[in-house]
Amino acid sequence: MNISIAVLPGDGIGPEVVTESIKVLEAIGNRFGHEFQIKSGRVGGNAIDDYGTPLPQETMDTCIDSDAILFGAVGGPKWDDPNADVRPEDGILAIRKSLDLFANLRPVKVYPSLINSSPLKPEILKGVDMMVLRELTGGLYFGKPKKRWNTSRGRRGVDTLKYTEAEIVRILKVGFELAMGRRKKLTSVDKQNVLESSRLWREIAVEMGKGYPEVELDHILVDNAAMQLIRNPSDFDVIVSENTFGDILTDEASVLSGSMGMLPSASLSSLPGNSGTSSKVSLYEPIHGSAPDIAGKGIANPIGSILSTAMMLRLSFGMHDEADSIEKSIEAALSEGYRTADISSDGGNQVNTTVMGDVIAGAI
Ligand code: IPM
Ligand code: MG
Repeated sequence: MNISIAVLPGDGIGPEVVTESIKVLEAIGNRFGHEFQIKSGRVGGNAIDDYGTPLPQETMDTCIDSDAILFGAVGGPKWDDPNADVRPEDGILAIRKSLDLFANLRPVKVYPSLINSSPLKPEILKGVDMMVLRELTGGLYFGKPKKRWNTSRGRRGVDTLKYTEAEIVRILKVGFELAMGRRKKLTSVDKQNVLESSRLWREIAVEMGKGYPEVELDHILVDNAAMQLIRNPSDFDVIVSENTFGDILTDEASVLSGSMGMLPSASLSSLPGNSGTSSKVSLYEPIHGSAPDIAGKGIANPIGSILSTAMMLRLSFGMHDEADSIEKSIEAALSEGYRTADISSDGGNQVNTTVMGDVIAGAI
């Protein structure tokens, strides 16, 4: 199979972790006989510096012409001026929106060998295995009006939390389908005691639940969800939420797996069909950001990015054995005691980004 992948390393630790993913991809290509054609593109703050825009047209064209996108991270203090006209984050947001990548899958699991890397008690972490489904192209991120302006009574700013029925239906459908393929439990997160958009969300979820009698459907308020996530995390199977809630809850959920550096994600514009793959261009990225504090030091954890690569093989190309091989190699590296700095609180053999990538690629 000859496959082309747009690789957008971005800023900060983005390029460092993506390099390790490509290393692992090459190992997969060799072992399973695939040809992965890598096409790099510029995105984020470094693209602002060189092209004046966080998403040059050339990068967008590369994405559209590829079979999948592997994304690193964007952002950094250099581009953080609140009055800047353009921001690195606009790059990833524009890709998500223009490719209609509305369904963001963020699996959260606990690796037994990392159970002591989490600040939470081991008994709370036992059996944690959930999928957080975050709506990715609506809500506060994209709702208009979105602006800042001056008035005679001071400055003002507005963002708009807006959802259409069609947007809610399509994300909830993905949630129900995911639950059907798992433990058949769907938790819909909202803030219906305060927000009108959440009341619509819940109403639609209840209606759609009737079409999925096998799925146990729960509704919880987002503030309660934040608490339950660290109190009873193993209770969750699939969680579905609007964009901002999902962003916040998944940073929190990453503490369950020991580090932000561990969590992958897949952003899709359609659920994989019967063939098991999504026919459109999907994007894969770790949930962590550019981590400017450790960028350039070579100590970042590449596992979130490498796991995202496994999700790509599985969801975009139906390469289940290949994805399994990556996941098993990661488990092997962890159980042999290899640790990047972020997951080294239980000791182990502390290694840098490159060595972690080498160990995982070597086990493929
Ligand atoms: C994420 C990130 C992004 C988001 C940023 C970089 C725009 O935090 O993917 O979770 O808020 O979606
Ligand atoms: Mg985030």
